[in-house]
Amino acid sequence: MAKKRVAVLISGRGSNMTALIEAAKAKDYPAEIALVVSNRPDALGLGRAREAGIATALVDHRPFGDDREAFDRALDAELAARRIDIVCLAGFMRLFTPWFVTRWSGRLLNIHPALLPQFKGLHTHRRALQAGVKRHGATVHFVVPETDSGPIIVQDSVPVIEGDTEETLAARVLEVEHRIYPQALRLVAEGAATFVPAGKDNGT
Ligand code: GRF
Repeated sequence: MAKKRVAVLISGRGSNMTALIEAAKAKDYPAEIALVVSNRPDALGLGRAREAGIATALVDHRPFGDDREAFDRALDAELAARRIDIVCLAGFMRLFTPWFVTRWSGRLLNIHPALLPQFKGLHTHRRALQAGVKRHGATVHFVVPETDSGPIIVQDSVPVIEGDTEETLAARVLEVEHRIYPQALRLVAEGAATFVPAGKDNGT
């Protein structure tokens, strides 16, 4: 079967992007990273993607101002131009319009640095320490219009250790992220993990 063409969307350093690029080098991996898109020109990950020989695109959000749907349409046009099948959000710091999410549903993945449904939103490591949880982790899920709420594809946890700071905990969780994102993308690319919201035909 042909490999699925994947776009990774980033806003920052792109360590999850790099993990996906590395995993996709394996001959038997069912997906190839065909494109990396950033909404920020200064995203460190853009340079890393270029060094890895991956096509990159910049869709700067600033010229679009408050017009979120216009940004989403410009992004969608980049994805269509590269015949992208699956989109992986990897530290992409923008919320999508329902139009975009619906259009890509079942083909749009996100990684969140917490054990969803715990700690949706930002500053997850700080909040986990404040809450005193014994375990913390990361989740890859399908994206739905409600933030950090879609069906879970893969999730794994690590212990919270006495004396942990946000930084030490984040580093432990990041190792989990780099392991589970390639696993989750594999499952989706192979068709082993699917999500078809009610009222939507598959693949349209
Ligand atoms: C990761 O912790 C990811 O879970 C969150 O943003 C961070 C991105 O890190 N959504 P990187 O750019 O992949 O290194």
